Amino acid sequence: MSMSDSPTSSIRGSELASDFTVSLDIDKRMYREDIAGSIAHAEMLGKQGIVSSEDVEAIIGGLRRIREEIEAGEFEWKPELEDIHINVEARLYELIGDAAGRLHTARSRNDQVATDARLYVKRIAGECRALCRGLQRALLDRAEENVTTIVPGYTHLQRAQPVSFGHVMMAYYEMFGRDAEAFGSARATADVLPLGSGALAGATYPLDREYVAERLGFSAVSANSMDAVSDRDFILDFIFAAAKTMTHLSRLCEDIVIWSSEEFGFIQLSDAYSSGSSMMPQKRNPDYAELIRGKSGRVFGSLVSALTTLKGQPLTYNRDLQEDKPPLMDAYDTVIGCLSAARGMIAEMTVSIDRMDGASQGRDILATDYADHLVRDHGMPFREAYVRVAAHTRGESIGDIEFPDLSAAESVAARDVAGGTAPGRVREAIMQAYGELGSARLSGEW
Ligand code: ARG
Repeated sequence: MSMSDSPTSSIRGSELASDFTVSLDIDKRMYREDIAGSIAHAEMLGKQGIVSSEDVEAIIGGLRRIREEIEAGEFEWKPELEDIHINVEARLYELIGDAAGRLHTARSRNDQVATDARLYVKRIAGECRALCRGLQRALLDRAEENVTTIVPGYTHLQRAQPVSFGHVMMAYYEMFGRDAEAFGSARATADVLPLGSGALAGATYPLDREYVAERLGFSAVSANSMDAVSDRDFILDFIFAAAKTMTHLSRLCEDIVIWSSEEFGFIQLSDAYSSGSSMMPQKRNPDYAELIRGKSGRVFGSLVSALTTLKGQPLTYNRDLQEDKPPLMDAYDTVIGCLSAARGMIAEMTVSIDRMDGASQGRDILATDYADHLVRDHGMPFREAYVRVAAHTRGESIGDIEFPDLSAAESVAARDVAGGTAPGRVREAIMQAYGELGSARLSGEW
């Protein structure tokens, strides 16, 4: 069958499809979802007696074969057919003839593309959540090894108080836990079936939408056809989760860049995640950390792009909505690459306990502990104690007050409060985290 006499050509309105409207390169990534959605729709049409069982069988057989062709790299993609939906449907005509024309009964590309995108977001959000869990696991392992490793904690990048390096790793564990949850809620937002909404108003056939939802693994069917064909909030939620994850990754990488500098020397990155300088043989550059930090901007850009596309939409479907997928997919590609790289970097870095310990020596870093001592043992109000210790650190005389001999380890151990850095508290947090990750794994989250 030539292009011009394909019944699908009328959908384009013109044989001279211009590149401008083509989305195939992007949306062909949803081929599995498109075919799964069509199979479920066809099964429902058969079950409801809307299409004969022979035709349904032919349709499903054809769709399965198309999936195989795509997976074998044998499918002939035709950009002039604009998108994944028309490419699949046109091939179905070639394979099974006129029965193919019955697949689109009670369906529009509007509810079809919304369904495909939701299935796709459910899948990738699940994958991203699992990658967050994997990174959390790497952080947790490093935390466990370093409960009693002491490192300066910083505010304003000034040495503030000594902390356990395990506590530092667990701070990032917390962040990526929130990201895993955010991907989980993006997945939940996407978990509603739009199919059955037609172009915008619903369908005139006796559809069984619950059946289709069940076949496709959706928890609910959409409540309003006009909202359903135009709602892309699930895409916003996904990109926002990705953007937030990138913010956390970028923070981690900023720390990694600092820690791995010669000045700090707290960690060494493995060769796989750093590179030599082409000119200066002594250097080891933290390229992966820098690239992750740099790529965060792309994902923020995707979020702004998607928000902007959506804000001007009158009800219901408008072609602008096709612009939802490039930012979605770029955010996805970027965040999965960054999560994997961060995991490897953390798992393979060498922790330089001596350098961390060396930087935690001296009396300055214990200034708060001295002030606490004046409060506890001399009954001084904290504000006054603060002034005295400040004077002392400047080398001024503060009378007959003696400060106790105190080590950084004792300072850390003293912060024995829920959420504090005392080794017992850090160990408790680690045990709880292993439990959390264990149940996340059991529930299939990763
Ligand atoms: N390629 C389109 C998209 O991604 C598919 C839906 C087209 N629907 C339409 N009525 N033109 O949004």
